[in-house]
Amino acid sequence: MVKKINTAVFISGRGSNLKSLINFSKKKNSSIVIKLVVSNNPIAKGLQYAKKSKIKNFVTLFNNKNISEKNILKKLYKNKIELICLAGFMKILSKNFIIKFKKPIINIHPSLLPKYKGLNTHKRVLKNKEVVSGSTVHLVTSKLDSGKIILQKKVNVTNSETIESLEKKILKIEHILYPKAIKKFLSSL
Ligand code: GRF
Repeated sequence: MVKKINTAVFISGRGSNLKSLINFSKKKNSSIVIKLVVSNNPIAKGLQYAKKSKIKNFVTLFNNKNISEKNILKKLYKNKIELICLAGFMKILSKNFIIKFKKPIINIHPSLLPKYKGLNTHKRVLKNKEVVSGSTVHLVTSKLDSGKIILQKKVNVTNSETIESLEKKILKIEHILYPKAIKKFLSSL
């Protein structure tokens, strides 16, 4: 039997990537088990997916980042978390947090990194008349959207593309890309 890695997923909103990771974790040969969902937003829609699948959740507002991160670390240790997957988590984790956790943290970003780090990626992609965009799964370091790339997937940007249509197109590939990247990353350890 495959050893399943205790995983925490961090979200802030919709949670469609969380949903795809939950589905992935339920597969017989999946390499992860999601033990905890962390959110900085008490009304994140994604929390519903956690509740539906009876996964523990922890909400902390990040009004005081230092305290929130300390409390999250306690939960991570308590649940023996070995991997964090950021999935639409809108807070930047401190260097101190990353060092203290000691284990890998990975993120999914809706652009072909190193291009278009940060927010409003689709808007900037369209403004620059790019013909391809995509999504990247990468390791998290203390520098925003800059860690080692695990896997990327491209999509074509059409002439009639809008922010909404591009977002939808990229989300669709992300739901396949993220589990695939996790599998690849864990098998490389
Ligand atoms: C995704 O596009 C992801 O790449 C980015 O934030 C979005 C989150 O969407 N980091 P969802 O909350 O998983 O639906």
